[in-house]
Amino acid sequence: MITEYAVMNEASPDPEVIGRAGRIIKEGGLVAFPTETVYGLGGDALNPESSRRIYAAKGRPSDNPLIVHVCRLEDIELIVSEIPPQAQKLAEAFWPGPLTMIFKKSDLVPKETTGGLDTVAVRFPSNRIAQALIDAAGGFIAAPSANRSGRPSPTVAKYCREDLDGRVEMIIDGGEVGIGLESTIIDLTEGSPIILRPGYIGRKMLEEVLGKVEVDATLITPDSGIAPKAPGMKYRHYAPRGELVILEGESDKVIEEINKAAAFNAEHGMKTGVLCTDETKDLYRADSVKSAGTRSDELSIARALFRILREFDDEQIDRIYAESFSGGNLGQAIMNRLMKAAGHRTVRPGDGEKLPL
Ligand code: TXA
Ligand code: MG
Repeated sequence: MITEYAVMNEASPDPEVIGRAGRIIKEGGLVAFPTETVYGLGGDALNPESSRRIYAAKGRPSDNPLIVHVCRLEDIELIVSEIPPQAQKLAEAFWPGPLTMIFKKSDLVPKETTGGLDTVAVRFPSNRIAQALIDAAGGFIAAPSANRSGRPSPTVAKYCREDLDGRVEMIIDGGEVGIGLESTIIDLTEGSPIILRPGYIGRKMLEEVLGKVEVDATLITPDSGIAPKAPGMKYRHYAPRGELVILEGESDKVIEEINKAAAFNAEHGMKTGVLCTDETKDLYRADSVKSAGTRSDELSIARALFRILREFDDEQIDRIYAESFSGGNLGQAIMNRLMKAAGHRTVRPGDGEKLPL
């Protein structure tokens, strides 16, 4: 298959190209497109064959459900069997935007789209290209992130192309995304609302609207052995090809340990990458030192994270060392993705721990 590559500006989506992309989806084809979080790999959410094609193009296990993207609030009534009052409040506060809500599904949504579940994840993105495409495609686009399964989610179209060229009918390049981490997922199908995946819309923001909000226990203690409630959260994710380790604790100890390991790696013919911040970037000596941004602007770090992990691959880096992030809501979401990318490998030089050499 030859993949058409279309570049457009979010401020003025090209109606002719959007119309063609919408028809592709209506006919069962796939289109990668920008959203405000990450690029999505879109197909008709109501067509079981389209969902099968999405799983195949991504190389994704088919028990991992897809998010259904809408462009009008009233359309949600068609795909869910019940709208709890909390959903109404969240929609008013955060939609369109980077929030996904889980509902009980209606019969219109095929099980292929929901990975066999009776629930459906729904999101109303704010990106105007995404909205125009959803409308042109008939109102319901199933879209996981537009990466091959296990790879970092694409925040620029170049990486959709790298993963999906020849596997989808079209890629729409709408520039770099604004947020860079996937949407927050909240489950509203049980008594109290539960966050299944952290994101830009943090717990505090949700609690201001809803009152108490729980967090899926597996996000707090990932090694508990309990299955996460969002099936996709159990898989290794975002992994760069190089081996990634996160260093925690006092900054000067972290820097010293990384520089030592980088020197060792160089002596043994291995390339080292460092993922750090503006505050420390001049203090590292390694083949590739990349700042994700300043710690005072977590959004800049969120936006850069997945791109930098991909760039280390482009540069064929063997070993990647990352500073850790904490702090606000976004800091937790950043750390959640980084920990997954590292397969939870962390080292605390301040406690005498050493990087494996
Ligand atoms: O920001 C985003 O959400 C992006 C853009 C493209 O919209 N999409 C995205 O999709 O991140 P994906 O497929 O990469 O992640 C969807 C997550 C998975 O962890 C999946 O298991 C979970 O949502 N999920 C989907 N439907 C669910 C359901 N019914 N119940 C629980 N978790 C669900
Ligand atoms: Mg994904």
